[in-house]
Amino acid sequence: TLNHLRHVESLATLPSGAGGIPKLNAVILGESLASEEDDLVFPSDDFSRRAHIPSPQKYLEMYRRSIEDPAGFWSDIASQFYWKKRWGQPVYSENLDIRKGRIEIEWFKGGISNICYNCLDRNIELGNGEKIALFWEGNEPGTDGSLTYNQLLQRVCQLANYLKDVGVQKGDAVVIYLPMLMELPIAMLACARIGAVHSVVFAGFSAESLAQRIMDCKPKVVITCNAVRRGSKIIHLKDIVDAALAESAQNGFAVDVCLTYENHSALEKSKTKWQEGRDTWWQDVITKFPTTCDVEWVDAEDPLFLLYTSGSTGKPKGVLHTTGGYMVYTAATFKYAFDYKPSDVYWCTADCGWITGHSYVTYGPLLNAATVVVFEGAPNYPDSGRCWDIVDKYKVSIFYTAPTLVRSLMREGDEYVTRYSRKSLRVLGSVGEPINPSAWRWFFNLVGDSRCPISDTWWQTETGGFMITPLPGAWPQKPGSATFPFFGVQPVIVNEKGVEIEGECSGYLCVKSSWPGAFRTLYGDHERYETTYFSAFPGYYFSGDGCSRDKDGYYWLTGRVDDVINVSGHRIGTAEVESALVSHPQCAEAAVVGVEHEVKGQGIYAFVTLVEGVQYSEDLRKNLVSTVRKQIGAFAAPEKIHWAPGLPKTRSGKIMRRILRKIASRQLDELGDTSTLADPSVVDELIALADS
Ligand code: PRX
Repeated sequence: TLNHLRHVESLATLPSGAGGIPKLNAVILGESLASEEDDLVFPSDDFSRRAHIPSPQKYLEMYRRSIEDPAGFWSDIASQFYWKKRWGQPVYSENLDIRKGRIEIEWFKGGISNICYNCLDRNIELGNGEKIALFWEGNEPGTDGSLTYNQLLQRVCQLANYLKDVGVQKGDAVVIYLPMLMELPIAMLACARIGAVHSVVFAGFSAESLAQRIMDCKPKVVITCNAVRRGSKIIHLKDIVDAALAESAQNGFAVDVCLTYENHSALEKSKTKWQEGRDTWWQDVITKFPTTCDVEWVDAEDPLFLLYTSGSTGKPKGVLHTTGGYMVYTAATFKYAFDYKPSDVYWCTADCGWITGHSYVTYGPLLNAATVVVFEGAPNYPDSGRCWDIVDKYKVSIFYTAPTLVRSLMREGDEYVTRYSRKSLRVLGSVGEPINPSAWRWFFNLVGDSRCPISDTWWQTETGGFMITPLPGAWPQKPGSATFPFFGVQPVIVNEKGVEIEGECSGYLCVKSSWPGAFRTLYGDHERYETTYFSAFPGYYFSGDGCSRDKDGYYWLTGRVDDVINVSGHRIGTAEVESALVSHPQCAEAAVVGVEHEVKGQGIYAFVTLVEGVQYSEDLRKNLVSTVRKQIGAFAAPEKIHWAPGLPKTRSGKIMRRILRKIASRQLDELGDTSTLADPSVVDELIALADS
């Protein structure tokens, strides 16, 4: 209770929050906790005292400066990095208002630097050469490896030299389709070193999805490996790449070089299919190249990478991030949101195929000279204690994961956790979807022994880094709330008319001004960038998420408000799944919605109408599911196929998803007005077929 008092007193004396400064209101003390909103979890005194941001006051002081003087605030942080040439004036320029013309964001323009240099060479010069940069834990317990900063730099340089040798130049794209081997961050860094633009494709995507991305960004080289073991399964990645390259070639774009790492723990070299002239074994060539490689100095606004992500319509979008702002932003967010200290050992369970792996496996941590654990395997293999086994083995102190993993481990029973010491843990993190308070509690009480703050970080592929996140020593947390904005971020909640609402409210989450880590465009389609993100609510960046703010100013994310589904923290566009389903010759039409799922957060629920004369059957259901797996990837497989004689449409032919969502979640008394439908009887038929 004393601890409570200390914080509450300090909270109560905070400034009252004018001018976009968060209101950290005084919180009720001494009363029983009435609701989730009043459920406060305090960092220990000891934790706060040692934290980079030890108090709400310190946060507010820095936050205020970041809003009032963004140029000064971010320049100070940027100055900690090496710049061949310092950026010019203005430090940033932005137009987020579509009514005023082209949307444009630039940070540190004219500054010349290199993110690979800042991750490796600079940290080595600072004395970290012999520090472990990467610990690698293989799928099979007992298989592992590590690289110091010196060794990592050498590996990166060898690959960078190879890429240059096969003709990769500044600005060229390189597609990386690798599992969580150390070669994945190595490949990213090698591209960055020579100014090439990497596009990592999550190695769970199908050949067709990979082909689509290859055809879009036209890489000079594709980097992959022969196979990977995940849990007890072997996945033949090279076969998938072969199929994707064949498809791309048929469509007029042939990739000249496919560099393949031999992951011999998964598959013998001799069993891998090979196309002479195009395919090269990594191990055969890389060691022949020198272990030093000159850096390609690039402008802060030169592209660093493309990462494809799902939207509510159309094909995946190539989110483009540039160099300087992204570097500064990922480094700063990593340091403050995890209260990172040089002695920490950090493990993020995300795959580098997603933005979390870009910003918080590779760049953010390495920019801070952190020691990072890279894990190849599955968190429940050989059993559900694997994560805590790894935590103990490497003395992990910061553990960052997704709510879906927390919920799935929670179901397996506490003994998988309590069997391990977990004493090294200091900070926990969550990302990808809202974390429900009961999962938060379990994570906090059991995994972290009620001692480790949880940074529930809200952000997106587009934002590059954390936007709303706890700073673990600064203020009490509320289980399920992402708390307050990071420095420089001005979140606003708007109503359906796009009008900003103040105080306690719910609405659409937007951002008012740019931040250094923001994406700059969608590759090859700036117009789509403007219409998708800046047109719904002119003047703001629209996140696609719903959000509420409580009486104390805490933010609570409530999930997507558009047609994007979030399955186990993976973003999937309804349109992508629908187009996969209708590519099946017997499927006439499909409409996909998300439904609540106990472990995955959301599951995919597909309404399907069949071609005239075709009967639905269990075989057809399986075929449809496997069509989606094949076209997108296993993670996008629908949970449920609902046979539909017809879909509820308006007279103008628009599918009423609102009604489908209610039917999918069996909230049949909340269907609302169906009289505007072209044929209201469709709804009754759908309900009648719901559980058939
Ligand atoms: O809906 C939000 C959810 O994930 C979406 C972004 O997905 P993606 O671009 O794939 O990036 C995931 C990792 C950053 C958001 O629009 N989301 C992400 N983090 C949270 C979250 N929802 C609630 N709380 C979070 N901490």
